Amino acid sequence: MPFSFQIRSLDEYTHVYEQSIREPETFWDSIAANFSWRKTWDKVLEWNFREPNIKWFLNGKLNITENCIDRHLKDKADQPALIWEPNNPSEDHRVITYSELYFKVNQFANVLRNNGVKKGDRVCVYMGMVPELPIAILACARIGAIHSVIFGGFSANSITDRLQDAQVEYIITCDGAYRGAKDIPLKNIIDDALVSCPFVKKVIVLQRTGTAVSMIKGRDVWWADEIEIVEQMGNPVFVAEEMDAEDVLFILYTSGSTGKPKGVVHTCGGYMVYATYSFVNVFQYQPGDIFFCTADIGWITGHSYIIYGPLCAGATSLMFEGIPTWPDAGRFWDIIDKHKVNSFYTAPTAIRSLMANGLEPLKDKDLSTLKVLGTVGEPINEEAWHWYDEHIGKKHCPIVDTWWQTETGGIMISNLAGVTPSKPAHATLPLPGIQPVLVDEKGNEIEGNGVSGNLCIKFPWPSIIRTTYGDHERCRLNYFAAYPNLYFTGDGCLRDEDGNYRITGRVDDVLNVSGHRIGTAEVENAINMHTGVVESAVVGYPHDLKGQGIYAYVIFDNTLHDPDLTRKDIAATVSRIIGPIARPDKIQFVNGLPKTRSGKIMRRILRKIAEGETTNLGDTTTLLDPIVVNEIKEGKIN
Ligand code: WT7
Repeated sequence: MPFSFQIRSLDEYTHVYEQSIREPETFWDSIAANFSWRKTWDKVLEWNFREPNIKWFLNGKLNITENCIDRHLKDKADQPALIWEPNNPSEDHRVITYSELYFKVNQFANVLRNNGVKKGDRVCVYMGMVPELPIAILACARIGAIHSVIFGGFSANSITDRLQDAQVEYIITCDGAYRGAKDIPLKNIIDDALVSCPFVKKVIVLQRTGTAVSMIKGRDVWWADEIEIVEQMGNPVFVAEEMDAEDVLFILYTSGSTGKPKGVVHTCGGYMVYATYSFVNVFQYQPGDIFFCTADIGWITGHSYIIYGPLCAGATSLMFEGIPTWPDAGRFWDIIDKHKVNSFYTAPTAIRSLMANGLEPLKDKDLSTLKVLGTVGEPINEEAWHWYDEHIGKKHCPIVDTWWQTETGGIMISNLAGVTPSKPAHATLPLPGIQPVLVDEKGNEIEGNGVSGNLCIKFPWPSIIRTTYGDHERCRLNYFAAYPNLYFTGDGCLRDEDGNYRITGRVDDVLNVSGHRIGTAEVENAINMHTGVVESAVVGYPHDLKGQGIYAYVIFDNTLHDPDLTRKDIAATVSRIIGPIARPDKIQFVNGLPKTRSGKIMRRILRKIAEGETTNLGDTTTLLDPIVVNEIKEGKIN
C-alpha cells in the first residue's frame, strides 16, 4: 500500500512511523514517487556509516527546480510562490507568482550560462534577503551549479576561507543590504575577500542600496546589464540540466568543535524528498496557506523552509528582508497582519527579545489568520514557549518545536502541528524514517524512558550529510567515528516517561549564540590573532536573550595598559576575523588557564565559573596548578 504524503492523525502517525522503521526502503520509495523525476531510481538506498557511504535513489534523474517550479505551472501558475516584504515598511512589497518565478529563474540561468557557469561549478551567493536571492539559488540549481550561500553577517576573512575551500569561481552579490537602520556594504566586503582569491572569474552584482561600489573590469558585471543581454536574446527557456539524485545540490558551511567551518554537502534527490516531506508534515501545510519563515537564507533553515521545501510543495513562501525590531518591535506582527500569514516559523532568541519588549507592539495587530507556530535553532525555555502560545498563537495554534541541524537537511524531531501532541520545551517525537537513539559516553545504547544521553541517529534518512566538501575523512571523524554505526549529532538529550525527546544543548565545543552555531576553537583562533594575546579559552554561559553568550578567558602579555580598551580591541578583532555574531560578550584577563598535567585546558571548570558556579567545580585533582582557579574565580566578569 502506498503511503499518503501527509499524515493527518495521531493513529496514522503511529502506524506510518512503525512501518517506516520496519521497512524504510519501501516507505521512502513510496514518498519519493510524489515528485517529478526524469527517470526513476534503480535502488532506494545503499549505505554504510563506516566510510560513510550513503546514496539514496540510485540512478534517479531529476532537476529540483522542475519540482519547485515547472510542475506547478499547470495548476498554480498565478498563485504567489514568493511574497517579499522589504526592510522598510514604506517600500512596496513584491509578489512573485509561480509563472513569474519560472520566467525569472530561466532568465537568470541564462545569465549564468552567458557568464560561463556550467554544471558542477561552485557559485557563492552573498546577498541580502531580496527576491533575487532565491532566484539566483534556483538558477544555480537549474544549471546544475553547486551553490554555496554565505550569510551576509560574515566577514571578508570568513568569506575567503569558504571561497578557497570550495575553489569558487563565480560570485553573486549585491552592492549592499538593508538590515534595520543599517546598510551593509556587501560588495566592498566581497572585494576585501577576493584579494586572496585570484581564482574567482566573475562577480555578478545586483543593485539594491545604491551604495558606491568598485567594479573591476573583466571581472565584475551588473545583474541588470546581464538581464538586458538575455532580454535581447528573446528570453529563451533554459532547459533544466538533468541531475543524478546523488549529484551535489549545495554546500553550506557550518562550525564544528575544531578547525575552520566545514562545507556540509547535500545532494539533489534525497534533500528534495526530505525537505518537502518534513515541510508538509511538520507544518501541516494546506494549499493556499501563507508560510512565513523568518530565518535568513544564509542558514539551512532558509534553504529548506523558505526555498526548497515550500516551493516543492507548491506553497506560498513569505520572505522578509529586515529584522524583528525595526522600525519597532511590532514588525513581525505587522507582516503577519498585512499578509494574512497562516504559519509562522522563528527562533527562540527572537521570541525572547520580542517578549522583552512587552505587549505594546502587539496592540491592534490582527494575528487571527495564524494556524501554526514553529521554533528552531536552540532549546526554547518554557517561559518563552508559553508567551508564544498565549500572545501570538492565542492558545489555538499548535507550536512545533523542530530539532534538526545543517547536516540533517530537514526537521528530524518535532511534533506535527495539530496531529501529534506538543509539550512545552520538548521537540517530542521523531519524524517517520528517523531513528534516534541515546548513548552513554562509551556508546552503549540507553534504552527505556526517563533517561538521558548523547543523541545519535542509527539509520540514514534521505537528506543526511553526504560528505564535508573536499575532505571526506573530516566528515567521518566528526559525525561517524564517535560511536560505531551511528550518526552523532553533538547534542545532549532527555527522553521523558512518554518517549518525548528534549534537546538539552551541545555536548561538544560548539556554542549556540542566538541560534547561530559558533565553534569555541574558531573564536579562540580569532582572539589569538590580536597582538599581545598569549593564549585564550572560550566557553558559553547562559544568556537571557541569546540563549548562550560568549565568555573568553585571555592571557595577555604583561603590558596591559588599558584593560577596557584592550577588551574592545579584542572584540573588534573577532568581529573582523569571523563576523559580529562571534564577538565575545565578556572578556576576562587571567594569568593562567586551568590545565591538566598533559597540557589540556579544563574547559569544564571554565564553563562552571562562567556560569557563576563558585564552589562545586567538580574534580580539580588532575590540575597542574590549582591556584589559577581561585584567581580566575576572583576576577570573574559579571
Ligand atoms: C544545532 C544545529 C536546524 C536549523 C537551525 C540550526 C540546535 C536546533 C533545536 C531545537 C534545541 C536545537 C542543536 C543543533 N537546535 N534546533 N528545536 N531545540 N536545540 O542549525 O546551525 O546546524 O545548528 O542547533 O544544538 O545541534 P545549525
